[in-house]
Amino acid sequence: MNTSKRLEGIGEYYFSKKLREIDELNRQGKNVINLGIGSPDQPPHPEVIKVLQEESAKPNVHGYQSYKGSPILRKSVAAWYRQWYGVELDPETEILPLIGSKEGIMHICMTYLDEGDGALVPNPGYPTYRSAVKLAGGTCLDYTLSGAKGWLPDFDELDRLAEAQGRIKLMWVNYPHMPTGKLPDRGLFERLVAFGKKHRILICHDNPYSFILNDSPMSLLSTEGAKEVVIELNSLSKSQNMAGWRVGTLAGAKQRIDEVLRFKSNMDSGMFLPLQLAAAKALSLGKEWYESVNNVYRARRVVVLELLEQLGCTFSREQAGLFVWARVPTAYKDGYALSDRVLESAGVFITPGGIFGPAGEGYVRVSLCCTVEKLQESIQRVRGAGICSNQ
Ligand SMILES: Cc1ncc(COP(=O)(O)O)c(C=O)c1O
Repeated sequence: MNTSKRLEGIGEYYFSKKLREIDELNRQGKNVINLGIGSPDQPPHPEVIKVLQEESAKPNVHGYQSYKGSPILRKSVAAWYRQWYGVELDPETEILPLIGSKEGIMHICMTYLDEGDGALVPNPGYPTYRSAVKLAGGTCLDYTLSGAKGWLPDFDELDRLAEAQGRIKLMWVNYPHMPTGKLPDRGLFERLVAFGKKHRILICHDNPYSFILNDSPMSLLSTEGAKEVVIELNSLSKSQNMAGWRVGTLAGAKQRIDEVLRFKSNMDSGMFLPLQLAAAKALSLGKEWYESVNNVYRARRVVVLELLEQLGCTFSREQAGLFVWARVPTAYKDGYALSDRVLESAGVFITPGGIFGPAGEGYVRVSLCCTVEKLQESIQRVRGAGICSNQ
């Protein structure tokens, strides 16, 4: 059976393939330490689990749920946006709960892109933007982020692209940026909103990392006039330790939410109610929760930096999010070469930066979702394999 044309040029997701390879190495007894994926290894807050347990024991919570989510979850998202980002959202009309923000990326592309429509995607950037644009029939137009420019968009390049390519409808943006860990500032957010308005491009901000190793979470929607041109995805996967629960949100003007719901309501139904209520609880947690999550990552980051130094990599210490992004030493052709060497000789997997786009090729990304003990063991293995900073 031939697969559809829309799957041409879309490979299996890199990690889906790589995890199979790592499983095979483990079957051969390699016991690989996986520092690839950003899946938090700590549990959610106990109160969150308690809500799920108590609510799911009730007899009347097992039916289909509203397509636009429980009002309790939507109200708690609105309160969370107000408390942490200073953004006012109408819980009735400006919030759409999602089964994780990854599905939201696809829904947005399917809602707005016709065959041949352009979408700006960051290079390097989260690979799903690129595949979702292609699956929806759109055309990806890369905007390059470079270390030399502090991993920020070059707005002159963006203006040129927007003027040369008539039909750009969307721009994918993500700050704190994955994989580079670059934090946003007000100036960047103002320029993005102005750019969207000038060229009539919908700015889609993907914001899952704003609470991780960052004391000042920001929403692009807090920029003046943003709702005219911005929609924002958020997620409970990273900051609430709920990656496997699959809960995210889309926020934006009523009209945008209605448009995306037109597509999404044809694809799935509302999430299991106890899960939505537990998610609402997670969003009501105070400062101590985020501090406890970040204390764990801060301690791990110290060891990850030591590992990267052992590998001869260079990096900025100002990164937010669940990873450290680092430049590979010149002895290696690129991040793939370093990643392969470390996997083959030390049984440690680190992500080659090239999977995030050609501009990431000279880099690797190391996840903080691994215990200090395992990270220390990774350093021992790398040393034991004779991989050191001068080779
Ligand atoms: C930049 C970025 N956006 C979105 C996601 C997906 O998050 P979710 O679990 O909410 O689908 C990830 C997960 O790795 C990510 O790194």
